[in-house]
Amino acid sequence: MKNKRIIVAVDGPAGSGKSSISKEAAKQIGLKYIDSGAVYRAITWYLLQKYNTKLNPKEYINDLSDIAISQIFNIDGSCSSFINGLDISEEIRDIKIADNIGVVSDNIQIRNYVNKLLREWALENSIIMDGRDIGTVVFPDADIKIYLDASVDVRAHRRAVEYREKGKDVDIKDIKKQIALRDKQDLSRPFGCLKKSPDAVYIDTTKMTKNEVIQKVVNLISKLQI
Ligand code: CDP
Ligand code: CDP
Repeated sequence: MKNKRIIVAVDGPAGSGKSSISKEAAKQIGLKYIDSGAVYRAITWYLLQKYNTKLNPKEYINDLSDIAISQIFNIDGSCSSFINGLDISEEIRDIKIADNIGVVSDNIQIRNYVNKLLREWALENSIIMDGRDIGTVVFPDADIKIYLDASVDVRAHRRAVEYREKGKDVDIKDIKKQIALRDKQDLSRPFGCLKKSPDAVYIDTTKMTKNEVIQKVVNLISKLQI
């Protein structure tokens, strides 16, 4: 790889394959993977623990002064998240987190806090980062921007398979409803909404296998390094 630091931005809706594709591309090319959604999830987990209630009042969620969030991209290609040193990688994947995350990701102070953190994490390495606003807000000058998409049915099916593989009994109808609601929230927030940057490469993965998408993304990134 060339010496220049490379920034790859991957955006798209829930279940479009952002994290699995980005992690694999990171492993193959030698980039550091950063999961921006995990930061919003970690904050949601923290606030749910702290207030032990459904997150509603927007006033108290600005208080992030007593937390330190960190992330490690492990050698096996997995990504671990920590809050004040506690490993919460599993906990943040709970359905309850996705049910409450909208209030957190709608908050502009929280978005600014997360964006600053993400940019700091990216200072040292060539990175691939996935999320909703990476190519539009966090890294508008990214070397390459990729927007992954898929139909809501396919995305719900993928997520349901994932939960079932982890031994969780889920109803596909509930997953589809939750994904559709999150799409709506993610597409409509005034700051950092899910949007394809005009210069992003759009990939509809509805009918593509994971390996086909990985191959395509790896090829696109590899062209940068020639
Ligand atoms: O994995 P999944 O696509 O379900 O979601 P995620 O990437 O873990 O993101 C969870 C939530 O965090 C999203 O639905 C957004 O509300 C929020 N998020 C965001 O607002 N901006 C980002 N850059 C990443 C995530
Ligand atoms: O990060 P995001 O929510 O966009 O999606 P993901 O967590 O990477 O992918 C959701 C699930 O779909 C994972 O279990 C992937 O292995 C699977 N997947 C798939 O079956 N086919 C694809 N083309 C991409 C992802």
